[in-house]
Amino acid sequence: MQVYERDHHKIIQADVFEGLRTISDQSIDLIFCDPPYNIGKNFHGRKDQWESDDAYLAWCYQWIDQCLAKLKPYGTLYVMAATQNMPYLDLYLRRKMTILSRIVWCYDSSGVQAKNYFGSLYEPILHCVKDKNNYTFNAQDILVEARTGAVRKLIDYRKSIPTTYNSQKVPGNVWQIPRVRYRMPEYEEHPTQKPIALLERIILASSNVNDTVLDPFSGTFTTSFVAKQYGRKSIGIEIEESYVKIGLRRLEICSEYQGERLSKPLKKYEGGYKQLTLLEEGNGTSLYKEAALPISMQSMC
Ligand SMILES: C[S@@+](CC[C@H](N)C(=O)[O-])C[C@H]1O[C@@H](n2cnc3c(N)ncnc32)[C@H](O)[C@@H]1O
Repeated sequence: MQVYERDHHKIIQADVFEGLRTISDQSIDLIFCDPPYNIGKNFHGRKDQWESDDAYLAWCYQWIDQCLAKLKPYGTLYVMAATQNMPYLDLYLRRKMTILSRIVWCYDSSGVQAKNYFGSLYEPILHCVKDKNNYTFNAQDILVEARTGAVRKLIDYRKSIPTTYNSQKVPGNVWQIPRVRYRMPEYEEHPTQKPIALLERIILASSNVNDTVLDPFSGTFTTSFVAKQYGRKSIGIEIEESYVKIGLRRLEICSEYQGERLSKPLKKYEGGYKQLTLLEEGNGTSLYKEAALPISMQSMC
């Protein structure tokens, strides 16, 4: 196990259970769980495939229990899963927590779409709290434009003094947020990176400044990255070294990892994989050096 930490942001490179053991019970305000879905994805060589559905669910129940132990009494848990597995997790969780919302994150097609059945264009998310009478929900921080009455300037005659409809509302449980695509600035090399916009809504709604947010399957560390942008503390667990390196860079914990510069690879259409700066040109030759990182990021792991 390796632990990296800077300014209230901690990265634990470990198996989920080993990582969770290092965290004090009842110390976390918000947990976002986006585990492997048991659908055969390739996480840098680690196969997302259990020997049976039962084995997968037994594993999920185990980390769910461990996460609940880490959550404060008024804490919130979000869990993502494949559509076919979510009913089991829903049944399991509702015995232990209050499920406030069953959220559908939906997106448009990535191009290749099923032709012989209705292709899957959504992922379910459970929003659960330990205490249904006392939990964080910052409705004012996540308002969206109301597209109905307000846009048409309709008057709401149900009110004692009729006024126009509100132009903003709390989002419903169907969230239309684009998936992370290669050409988006936030893209990292990971098969199931979650969008910043998704985590912004979750973190702003269900935590406050200085709260601690935990993500036990961090991947590209989107959760920790967003937590940092909004003044929360973060703990991220991830087993794969290559994804930990993404986290170290995204959270600006260090700029070098075991002698390797942690710079974001250039995309193909940006001209290559290394950021180069032209030093000299003459006699038909050019001398380049790798671009320097900002001083604030020059630290080593
Ligand atoms: C669905 S992805 C998470 C993606 C992440 N939410 C993001 O935005 O990038 C699941 C992650 O769990 C990691 N993982 C798989 N098995 C693990 C384990 N036993 N312990 C810790 N992490 C694990 C995988 O390497 C993968 O990066």
